[in-house]
Amino acid sequence: MNASLRVRPAEPADLGFIVAANAALARETEQRELEPARLRAGVAAVLDDAAKGRYFVAEAAGRVVGQLLLTWEWSDWRNGTFWWIQSVYVVSGARGQGVFTALYRHVEALARADAGVCGLRLYVEGHNERARRSYLRLGFAAAGYEILEVDFTRPEAAVGR
Ligand SMILES: CC(C)(COP(=O)(O)OP(=O)(O)OC[C@H]1O[C@@H](n2cnc3c(N)ncnc32)[C@H](O)[C@@H]1OP(=O)(O)O)[C@@H](O)C(=O)NCCC(=O)NCCS
Repeated sequence: MNASLRVRPAEPADLGFIVAANAALARETEQRELEPARLRAGVAAVLDDAAKGRYFVAEAAGRVVGQLLLTWEWSDWRNGTFWWIQSVYVVSGARGQGVFTALYRHVEALARADAGVCGLRLYVEGHNERARRSYLRLGFAAAGYEILEVDFTRPEAAVGR
């Protein structure tokens, strides 16, 4: 792994990077334009309230080049908490150099050190082969579930609201 890589919890000053990274992530993986004001408020809400989630960023030579977001889900079956990894993004010029691997290994070590954590989960868009390969290589396996949703922020679901 690149020795100059450093993973750290995000700080309020990372807001701009994280907002831009999420906009780029949606564009690249889902060809989707996120509403800028809503996205910015959504990222700021996490940075302001650790109960909502925790962003981690990776720095290479002092520059932020990647991120992920951790959120939580209680598992009654396991009497433990799954950590969900979301909003995974590495800037295009820094890919293939172990940045995501470093981010992942960092949170995996935190998760394994916490007796209350029963595992890690993430979802990946069906056509995103590169990301899927990276996850499988790091030890993830298909959970056998399909994600279904009703998204109230989408125009087609907003009728009556
Ligand atoms: C998917 C993504 C997060 C991977 O990040 P990354 O930092 O490039 O990942 P890594 O470098 O840790 O690993 C990727 C590959 O580089 C290889 N690699 C790791 N360290 C390396 C190094 N030092 N030098 C060269 N290659 C290296 C890995 O073997 C891996 O190969 P694989 O594709 O065969 O699995 C990144 O491509 C990305 O941001 N994509 C767009 C957004 C996206 O798809 N997000 C995920 C949404 S679910």
